[in-house]
Amino acid sequence: MTKRYITTAIPYVNGKPHIGHALDYCLADVCARYYRLLGDEVRFQAGTDEHGNKIFQKAKELNIPVQEYVDENTEKFKDFIAKLNISYTDFVRTTDETHVKLCQKIWERLREHIYLAKYEGWYCTGCERFITDKEVEENHGICPDHQKPYEKLEEENYYFRISDFKEQIREAIFSGELLILPDFRKKEMLRLLEESPDVSVSRPKSQLTWGVPVPNDDSQVMYVWIDALSNYITVLGYPEKDISEWWPAIAQFVGKDILRFHAIIWPAMLLGLGLSLPKVIVSHGMILADGQKMAKSIGNVVDPLEVINKYGVDAFRYYFLRHIDTFADSDFTWTKFEDAYNNELANDLGNLVQRLATLVSKNQIILNVPELSLDDKYKALMEKYEFARAFDYIWEKIQGINRKIDEEKPWSLAKNGETEELTKCLNSLVYELLSVNQMLSPFLPETAAKITEIFADEVQPPAAPLFPKY
Ligand code: MSP
Repeated sequence: MTKRYITTAIPYVNGKPHIGHALDYCLADVCARYYRLLGDEVRFQAGTDEHGNKIFQKAKELNIPVQEYVDENTEKFKDFIAKLNISYTDFVRTTDETHVKLCQKIWERLREHIYLAKYEGWYCTGCERFITDKEVEENHGICPDHQKPYEKLEEENYYFRISDFKEQIREAIFSGELLILPDFRKKEMLRLLEESPDVSVSRPKSQLTWGVPVPNDDSQVMYVWIDALSNYITVLGYPEKDISEWWPAIAQFVGKDILRFHAIIWPAMLLGLGLSLPKVIVSHGMILADGQKMAKSIGNVVDPLEVINKYGVDAFRYYFLRHIDTFADSDFTWTKFEDAYNNELANDLGNLVQRLATLVSKNQIILNVPELSLDDKYKALMEKYEFARAFDYIWEKIQGINRKIDEEKPWSLAKNGETEELTKCLNSLVYELLSVNQMLSPFLPETAAKITEIFADEVQPPAAPLFPKY
């Protein structure tokens, strides 16, 4: 059985989940369910990023002990992932004792590429990132994402010698050995890599206490990204366990805003450890509200639970996997969401299932459906991580079945007593629907299971519509 490992970015737990966080999980889940459908064994990591200044400061502001604060928020993320019906197999918290211990061992293994030096430069706590002079100049000293002035730092900390691996990383990205999707981001990352200096990988304890202690140096804690990126392998037990069964990951899902960490620091860490690079890094776009960034200050943040509680998890997954482009920035608006729900889920799919099940059951048709097999075009799109396009393809098939019913008019065959023709026609329509349903199952697992159930043995139309109209 082929083994495949899939990962998601671990969100900072400095608040509750918002709809932007859903994308990593939904994309990775489709990928995991697809490979399971092919019969592969899949390990699927999720987790939470719990260290760093951003979280520490937020807890302080709220006057809550920081461990208590991260415990509370982590539960909210776990609930959220469960509500999204995400089929993860492993969950890692960066405050887990095991993670901390393994992370320190990783540091020790990278030690020969790490040196102590003075850092004189800038930092953005919102981004949890060291900022170059060039960026500070370009942005006139203010972080465009967080609207806060960059902090000036003058401190002694450890540096990771990225320069030891630059050439190897460049070659891997350029040749596609480490595939970065979409392609235009690959060029962007190659440019960034060229400009990348060695990176600071620790902070003095006097500046930050909430982090993984640097081994053999009481005065420093690890930079949060070193700790966070390690999660992808500590969750498999590295370096105490042999992870070669699972590593390298076939796909790592991240947002475009954090691709730089995954395309530069992460490969350098892996090469320093003597591990292979992941096969693919899939970087998705941002979810916007009416073309604008979602932010509490603008008041346009959409609570994902509000959507799921009203319309159900599959309606949420439907919108996020089909109408949110897999790679580009896309909009969420209630109007677009409700239109897609009523016209596509309720009309195209819900009505089709209802109509077909009613025709089969009313005419007491005996179904004899041949074994299903996956369509090559669908497989090709799924394996290129073109999930939204694969979903469009599924939808064309659904609309095709609806057209076929209208053309073949099985109700007329029934009325004219053409039983043999009617049986043939309905069997073929149900076969097409079940084939589509198999392709649909990684996207809408709950709905696909219901459809399978409806057409198993004694066909009964669903008592309530699959997607009640609003
Ligand atoms: N903690 C880091 C990730 C460490 S991975 C080793 C982080 N956390 S985050 O909470 O800011 O973001 C988590 C994920 O959610 C990232 O992939 C990020 O791109 C994604 N999104 C956060 N807001 C988003 C949108 N509005 N739209 C789409 N995805 C976005 O970065």
